Amino acid sequence: MSLIERLAPQEVGFPLPWARPARNKVRMSDALLLSMKVNGEEVEVAAPAHFTLLEVLRYKLDLIGSKQGCDKGDCGACTVQLDGVARLSCLTLAVQANGREVRTVEGMTGAHLHPLQDCMDKSVAAQCGFCTPGILMAAEAFLTKMGRVVTRGEVAEAMASNLCRCTGYTKIVDAIVDASAIMAEGKN
Ligand code: FES
Ligand code: FES
Repeated sequence: MSLIERLAPQEVGFPLPWARPARNKVRMSDALLLSMKVNGEEVEVAAPAHFTLLEVLRYKLDLIGSKQGCDKGDCGACTVQLDGVARLSCLTLAVQANGREVRTVEGMTGAHLHPLQDCMDKSVAAQCGFCTPGILMAAEAFLTKMGRVVTRGEVAEAMASNLCRCTGYTKIVDAIVDASAIMAEGKN
């Protein structure tokens, strides 16, 4: 199946003949047919070429756990994992996720709480909760990469891109350090 599906010609709207795009160039009005694995499930989704991964997740796939905070790379509320690496989905074009694996906070649902969710809960590390999905995704990618108990300083550095207006960060750091011990123990 072709990656690019064209929208109706009247939606293109180039007023001057010489302003028409060259053949085979992707235009903003083109809809891309994307395939990706989202939280373990293969999905195919059509979206305009300019859509970010965050927009596809929220507005095409109804995965609204990832938050649209600043929408310009400042707050980290939109953090997801792309092939296991934390990414700001508001700064990632959806086409960059084509053929790749995306994990969002919805992927953390299961019979048992993830150690990070459990420790965040026990430490009361969420208040309004707006930052929490991004924090969980960033922290999980970080702890998986480290594979050991981490220090408070390492957590502070790794989580510097995730802003929280409510908690003052101390409890979030506590929770991530505690979760690192549980995850490291689970590995052995
Ligand atoms: S919404 Fe992406 S960094 Fe703020
Ligand atoms: S808990 Fe409210 S922004 Fe973090």
